[in-house]
Amino acid sequence: MMAVRRRLLPCACLGLLGLLCWVLVSGAFSPETEHQMEFMDASELGAFQPQSALSDMEFSAISSYRGPGNKDQRSNKELPILLWWSAGLFPHFPGDTERIDCATSSCMATSNRKVQHHKRTASIIFYGTDFRAYEAPLPRPPHQTWALFHEESPMNNYLLSHGPGIRLFNHTATFSRGSDYPLTLQWLPTLSYLLQPAAVPLREKNLWRAKGLAPVLYMQSHCDVPSDRDRYVRELMKYIEVDSYGKCLNNKALPAELEDTATATGEEPRFMSFVARYKFHLALENGLCSDYMTEKLWRPLHQGCVPVYRGSPSVADWMPNGRAVVLVDDFSSPGELAALLRHLDQDDEAYARYLEYKDPDGGVANARLLERLEAREWGVNDMSKPNYLNGFECYVCDRENARLAAERAHQRAPQQAPPPPPAKMANNSHMGCPLPRPGYGDIGDVPPDDGWLQIWPLDYWQSLDQAEGLESLIRHNESDPSLLWQHIQNIAVRRARGKH
Ligand SMILES: *[C@@H]1O[C@H](CO)[C@@H](O)[C@H](O)[C@H]1NC(C)=O
Ligand SMILES: *[C@@H]1O[C@H](CO)[C@@H](O)[C@H](O)[C@H]1NC(C)=O
Ligand SMILES: *[C@@H]1O[C@H](CO)[C@@H](O)[C@H](O)[C@H]1NC(C)=O
Repeated sequence: MMAVRRRLLPCACLGLLGLLCWVLVSGAFSPETEHQMEFMDASELGAFQPQSALSDMEFSAISSYRGPGNKDQRSNKELPILLWWSAGLFPHFPGDTERIDCATSSCMATSNRKVQHHKRTASIIFYGTDFRAYEAPLPRPPHQTWALFHEESPMNNYLLSHGPGIRLFNHTATFSRGSDYPLTLQWLPTLSYLLQPAAVPLREKNLWRAKGLAPVLYMQSHCDVPSDRDRYVRELMKYIEVDSYGKCLNNKALPAELEDTATATGEEPRFMSFVARYKFHLALENGLCSDYMTEKLWRPLHQGCVPVYRGSPSVADWMPNGRAVVLVDDFSSPGELAALLRHLDQDDEAYARYLEYKDPDGGVANARLLERLEAREWGVNDMSKPNYLNGFECYVCDRENARLAAERAHQRAPQQAPPPPPAKMANNSHMGCPLPRPGYGDIGDVPPDDGWLQIWPLDYWQSLDQAEGLESLIRHNESDPSLLWQHIQNIAVRRARGKH
């Protein structure tokens, strides 16, 4: 029933190397982020956890390094606990409980679910892709905040795109600039990644054109996705030549020597230089959410191929200048888009203007982009900077300590200390993706037996049911998350009777 795709961490079970491996797999250099992989449920990993998460650490010495702003002298057993609920995504040695010393304060981080009801467990951190309403930690005590880490596609869990779903969380790290700890440019490692000269000069691209390469490349093997991109590409192909090498709309075979590089992780150099021969890359995200931009967009910019992009509706906010991408939605039809691409294919001067952002002297004119790259504290495949998992964990730790300190101070001296800040919860600006629409044409024109139609609009609305069901479970202080289905049914019945 759940159409939600699982894309669990392939390395979650490797133990020690799990984190490093995770960083590599979902870091900026995996060319195919949408492999369908089957893995053990994160919760099954719990079986390998030691009996007590806290006992080993509680009595050990206070660990060494603290940031200059961290004057936290408390012993481990006084610190608030952060519980990573999705055990597959625990940015420490598996099974460990670790003291983390953050910018202004310290916490204990664990993935041992036995501490769920511990009074010091201040926050539970969830990985969005794995978050399941029917497995949520219940009952939820009022003092416990929830934190959401979700850097992946919205298609993995539409529950988080609905108000009642996202409101369950107090702290967020998502692709959206509106989240608390934004990961918006996670697929852009550095500014120099953009500035690198075109991998294949235009002169050479024209030679490849003369040898029979199409002007446009499509390379996709994940076909049934919410953005319904294939429906658009199929139409576009009527107006311009597109070489499609992936499983979706395949019309051309990869050269034999490249066959097994196409699905390899990492930017395989031979494969990269092959795709760089194309003038245009169809860069169509699997979901259309504000600020959801992936390597599909940044890689062609890196290589000096013009992305023909559909994805984040606000993508222009992050582009190096006003003319680096061709936006599908600027055209009233695939035919009109094709007309521009054909024109640029003929006119070298006009095409070259799309690559002007590579000029090291001020080609990148977007102050917002420069400022965000400069300001972010986490690195992409950069060992000298924290990764964003540990960064977010510390963000939550410092926020929780500040909240707890304010509460304690106010309790001790209500006259002197101001009341703690009001409850903080996320809203649709932290993620909020719209109802999936057909990639081309009106929904009324899509035949009833269409695969996309049978999956995505349904998945979207079922996710809303689940979000509302979970909200109801929490409101009723239920401790058994499997009562979810009953709560969903009750809501539906009440609604049918006209009561809300
Ligand atoms: C956390 O969010 C919940 C709503 O999901 C809210 O009831 C609670 O007050 C929030 N907690 C804090 C400390 O802001
Ligand atoms: C959503 O949350 C942000 C803070 O994260 C806040 O600034 C904004 O006003 C909220 N929007 C709505 C509609 O409540
Ligand atoms: C919620 O349930 C827990 C455990 O089932 C219980 O200890 C707590 O008192 C309940 N809270 C309320 C407000 O009923």
